[in-house]
Amino acid sequence: MGSVDLNALIPNNVDLKEDRRLQRALEAWQPQFLDWWREMGPEGFQADEVYLRTAVDVGRDGWAHFDYVKMPDYRWGIFMSPAEDGRVVPCGDHFGDAAWQKVPGEYRNALRRIIVTQADTEPASVEQQRLLGQTAPSQYDLRNLFQVNVEEGRHLWAMVYLLHTHFGRDGREEAEDLLRRRSGNQDSPRILGTFNEPVEDWLSFFMFTTFTDRDGKFQLLALAESGFDPLSRTTRFMLTEEAHHMFVGETGVGRIIERSAQVMNELGTDEPDRIRAHGAIDLPTIQRWLNRWYSSSINLFGGEQSSNAASYFATGLKGRYKEDSYEDHIALEGVYRMQVPQNLGLTTEEVPLRNAMNEILRDGYIGDCEFVIARWNRILEKAGRPERMELPNRRFNREMGIYSSYAYDPEGNPITAEAFEARRDDWLPSEADSVFVKSLMKPCLEFGKVAGWIAPPRKGINGNAFEWEYVRFDKSSAGIACGATPSLTGE
Ligand SMILES: [Fe+2]
Ligand SMILES: [Fe+2]
Repeated sequence: MGSVDLNALIPNNVDLKEDRRLQRALEAWQPQFLDWWREMGPEGFQADEVYLRTAVDVGRDGWAHFDYVKMPDYRWGIFMSPAEDGRVVPCGDHFGDAAWQKVPGEYRNALRRIIVTQADTEPASVEQQRLLGQTAPSQYDLRNLFQVNVEEGRHLWAMVYLLHTHFGRDGREEAEDLLRRRSGNQDSPRILGTFNEPVEDWLSFFMFTTFTDRDGKFQLLALAESGFDPLSRTTRFMLTEEAHHMFVGETGVGRIIERSAQVMNELGTDEPDRIRAHGAIDLPTIQRWLNRWYSSSINLFGGEQSSNAASYFATGLKGRYKEDSYEDHIALEGVYRMQVPQNLGLTTEEVPLRNAMNEILRDGYIGDCEFVIARWNRILEKAGRPERMELPNRRFNREMGIYSSYAYDPEGNPITAEAFEARRDDWLPSEADSVFVKSLMKPCLEFGKVAGWIAPPRKGINGNAFEWEYVRFDKSSAGIACGATPSLTGE
């Protein structure tokens, strides 16, 4: 596979020029996308040159090209991982049949719904994060935010390509609706709950990219096992980019924890008020943000027992995380032992495997999150701190699914609603917490500087140092000193 022409209107490795109708349809959608980007993309900074990576190929090495680019000029391309010779439907009732290159008629609606639901999260997260540039803690972080934003834009392109190519007029209408819905809008919200919650501070941004983008990773992993080959190949390549988003989140929270530990050691106290007075974020507050974004993100896997999930698996539209690692790809036998609410306690129920597919994916996600927490705790350990971060139980603070009508503490023990309310402010961010965290959110964009509530990263991007010019500011945004009050009116 050769390198791709970055100067093409729509860089791609899908032979777009061979399909003039499709090319024209996408070229007609492109200005609408750019209008959306200008309206709902990052507020301000559009005239600045940002050191961004652009996907130019799909090979293991050299798929990305780094250079300065103004965000509206970013080349949002369409890329698929290479076709696998003789690929078969990896699971379900069609297991072993040749993978589909065209949408099977009987699965058309289900497949469209799967693609649209995934697609909708991509512009949603850009909208949620659009004001964060105004309060970035360093140039490096500002660049990382914009990298995540432009790549979510590219993920939207990847999904719109599938809609345009395989779903005709319906697909084109869906593609337009993807630019019409708005995160948090009452009349026309984004499809999934977490993607309508505002991300208003950088602690939330880093938690979001750790936990919500990681949900994305697992959804993409399940779609990478789809019997519909174009979806599988598209999502495989998206996973390459997704890894960076989770890196931004995990290292971001890690650096906040590191700074907090440093201040605790310096002051010889773990008293939250004293840590806060010193301009850092105390660990209990970080834990409450963790609890909030994790418990919200975990809803995204859907109901614990789901006939939809069973049918997606049966039809081969969606597989399991690492479908390869299972011996039985049909999953008609066997059960999943699930803890379900009973009276005010819990009991174990045996659920037919196919109906438990959401829960099986959620298990993979939780396991992955446990590793993240362990890496954060290593930072505390290295700093000689006795405190540890914890992942709350999957039943804690749920808004969807079988646990959502009951109350549980972070360990997952059933408690009364009154007991939950009495402890709410210990477990989840309070109004006062938000006021405090927001008070720290001041831009720090001077060369080589970093805000006081977060440690600098050990390394910069693409082999560069942290002290490096990640953004070349245009006159209109220049001079944002550390600690200046952000202007939310943009340029
Ligand atoms: Fe994405
Ligand atoms: Fe992402």
